[in-house]
Amino acid sequence: MNNIILKKTKELDNWRRNLKGEINFIPTMGNLHDGHKKLISTAKNSNFNINLVSIFINPLQFENKEDLENYPKSIDNDIKIAFSHGADAIFIPSTVDIYPPNEKNIDYLKASKELTSALCGLKRTGHFDGVCTVVYRLLNLVKPKNLYLGEKDWQQLLILKNLISEKKLNINIKSIPTQRDIDGIPFSSRNILLSKNERKLIRLFSDELFLAKNIFKQEKKINLKNITKKLKSNNISIEYLEHLNPYTLERAHLKDNISILAGAIICGKTRLIDHVFLMKRNPIIAIDGPAGSGKSTVTKLIAEKLKLLYLDTGAMYRALSWFLIREKINYHKKNELNKLLENITIVFKSNATGTQDVFINDYCVTEEIRSPEINSIVSKISSIKEIRQYLVEEQRKIGESGGLVAEGRDIGSTVFPDAELKIFLTASIDERAKRRKTELESKDSKEIDFNQLKELIKKRDFEDSNREISPLIKANDAIELITDGYSINEVADKIVDFYNEKIPKEVQNQYS
Ligand code: PAF
Repeated sequence: MNNIILKKTKELDNWRRNLKGEINFIPTMGNLHDGHKKLISTAKNSNFNINLVSIFINPLQFENKEDLENYPKSIDNDIKIAFSHGADAIFIPSTVDIYPPNEKNIDYLKASKELTSALCGLKRTGHFDGVCTVVYRLLNLVKPKNLYLGEKDWQQLLILKNLISEKKLNINIKSIPTQRDIDGIPFSSRNILLSKNERKLIRLFSDELFLAKNIFKQEKKINLKNITKKLKSNNISIEYLEHLNPYTLERAHLKDNISILAGAIICGKTRLIDHVFLMKRNPIIAIDGPAGSGKSTVTKLIAEKLKLLYLDTGAMYRALSWFLIREKINYHKKNELNKLLENITIVFKSNATGTQDVFINDYCVTEEIRSPEINSIVSKISSIKEIRQYLVEEQRKIGESGGLVAEGRDIGSTVFPDAELKIFLTASIDERAKRRKTELESKDSKEIDFNQLKELIKKRDFEDSNREISPLIKANDAIELITDGYSINEVADKIVDFYNEKIPKEVQNQYS
């Protein structure tokens, strides 16, 4: 595609109509810097869509005329940068194009009240309403598949995610982590307005945030008063410094695994923002669901794609069943069982083929635990209270430092109720019976009765959902994914997208 510049909404409309393919949309206000370059090139390299960059200084998101007039402009250079970093087309509308004076039905939007009650929303009244209004107008014109935004403006990102979900737009938001200059300060179009001394101040501020992040890693707590005192002693004028839950923007709670430490400082006439994410352990994905939903295959694939540990809780129940048979333990006798449980270790280790082996007390049992003998007893063994309690504790120990994806029936509800992402994977009875039939027939050529399989699956669902200990339930905050008609790869990609949308890039595998 030739480098295309579109100046009028009509031109955009015509271009859009004749386009074959989907759009990656990168809205900007120009004066493009390395953060924008990364955004444009990331979009270009992630798919075969057409990359459209818009450059529009939106008057609605400025608090005063002076700020709007002083906003840095460099259109010729912006065009060069955008095209050389992967833009296929650039949309440069004028204010009257976006807000025609005689158009009566411009939808002036209000940003989410909850998400504007903190950080920049407190002082910059109306700013996020302006952002929502312009982005909604642009999205309606461009109709993109993907919207690319920087995590530097984390609050803006949350507000726009909320807007897209409220308006039920079928658009994916893709984000990139804050891009920083060699001295550590985040790239921003306003950096150009800073004097040498002011730049030193923002650098001190960013350094202080990173120091706080390192202290948090060790001490798991933060002292806002001390940080504020230190910044003030360096003559830094703070507009706000807050430690918040990164999704609700309410005050961070002790139980929050990920939180955000965000601040705004005033450097001369310029206001600059920066933040870091604080994290106690790496993120956890919990995948629950009934038999035949495709859980194991999907979970393995996700672990591979996101480089997370795959915690196969079913293999732990199977390994323990294997051990009980081998040691001829009468698991109905509580004393015998408890004594055994005290002396057991189950670990997973990666092997040379890139998959993982399961060991129980140093025996590698990866193959043996898939035998028909184990198949026939694992369900009974896993409903014994002592065994359940013991293995849930072991699973939590493995999950202490996070960085894993676990699958089972009670992961999101019991084992890791604080998991960052919970998925309830399911499929219709018909689809599950169809999958099971194909699986069984590939092992044994005998004809399997479809209706009989359906009845067996219904019975198993009933038993799993109604057992007393750790029944199969969908956690309140789990996302339900019905996998009928989707390939394993498509399901895994969907979950990876959820993960990327939720977990800030800055903290993905931070401690690995
Ligand atoms: O982040 C920005 O540059 C602007 O707020 C945006 C999203 C382009 C809307 O004007």
